[in-house]
Amino acid sequence: MKKITIIPGDGIGPEVTAQAVRVLDAVGERFGHTFTYDYQLMGASAIDLTGDPLPDATIESCLLSDAVLFGAIGDPKYDNDPSAKVRPEQGLLRLRKTLQLYANIRPVSNYPSLAHLSPLKPERLQGVDLVIYRELTGGIYFGEKTLNADKTLASDSCTYTREEIERIARPAFEHARQRRKKLTLVDKANVLETSRLWRSVVREIAATEFPDIETDYLFVDNAAMQLIVNPAQFDVMLTENMFGDILSDEASVIGGSLGLLPSASIGKGAALFEPIHGSYPQAAGQDIANPLGSILSAAMLLEYLGMQDEAALVRAAVSWTLENGFVTRDLNPAQHYATSAVGHYIEHFILHNAPGKNQLQNILLAQSTII
Ligand code: IPM
Ligand code: MG
Repeated sequence: MKKITIIPGDGIGPEVTAQAVRVLDAVGERFGHTFTYDYQLMGASAIDLTGDPLPDATIESCLLSDAVLFGAIGDPKYDNDPSAKVRPEQGLLRLRKTLQLYANIRPVSNYPSLAHLSPLKPERLQGVDLVIYRELTGGIYFGEKTLNADKTLASDSCTYTREEIERIARPAFEHARQRRKKLTLVDKANVLETSRLWRSVVREIAATEFPDIETDYLFVDNAAMQLIVNPAQFDVMLTENMFGDILSDEASVIGGSLGLLPSASIGKGAALFEPIHGSYPQAAGQDIANPLGSILSAAMLLEYLGMQDEAALVRAAVSWTLENGFVTRDLNPAQHYATSAVGHYIEHFILHNAPGKNQLQNILLAQSTII
């Protein structure tokens, strides 16, 4: 039995997470696993109900779980209010820090059937398969913040220790070893002292422990450009917190849809899995958001629990819906399905394996009722 804390969060979070839970249930049924879920609050919805973006009960549940599945965070009512003392995002940042989730892993894969949605020319998409390792609990996000009394001067300090760099660099190198054996450290070592520390620590680890990995070093401005000009050159990209936040959003659109990308945050305690998209408040409650980012996050969660075949089946089901056009409107505005319908097809695929011709025909027949 595996205990999973579910944090639906804000905006479209609850709807997409519900489909991921449905998929986990189907996997449980198919493979004979029992998943138990403990639903908890975080973000704007937690502030509304408790005044706190990360209630203690949520932390306690996560600490007792095998893994955490999270939806999305954020609400426009806080975004344009610089004076707000309590913000939804503080919940996620505190949870990352409390669970010591220091490595955020964001794979960017490329689905040929979505190439037309990419802002890049098709020839630039060929061979794109990269994964970003973003440091998640240090740097400018968590440094000292100051604002003087007359509000004319503010600062955010950026700090890194050797240990913080080492503990994410090693898993990133290990991952590269299982892939195309290339790692690119992204930094700003021509300007920042912290970046120079990153470079020297990573250089040392590369030379002593991973001589078989081709290690490159790129300044972040150049990396931002290279991601657009030649994204296929990258295998594992390793970077600090803020650069990773920015580059992972940039990288996420390369494949054609932000709605499709999962992420894992791992560290000392239970790992957390979440789609990389935001809370998309305009779509909340309408059953139109893309659930695939959350469903693929559930696949990463299964892999983390050692369930490789289960994860592979979820991914096969997702690819099947994409190839057959059972997609939400962000992927095909002309012919689209509801969030819950996409979840239904994936559940069906998992329970009954690849649908045969008859099942496919039934599904196609059902289209008219679902659209
Ligand atoms: C992300 C998000 C968060 C971050 C926000 C919501 C605090 O953008 O997970 O990338 O900046 O880390
Ligand atoms: Mg971000």
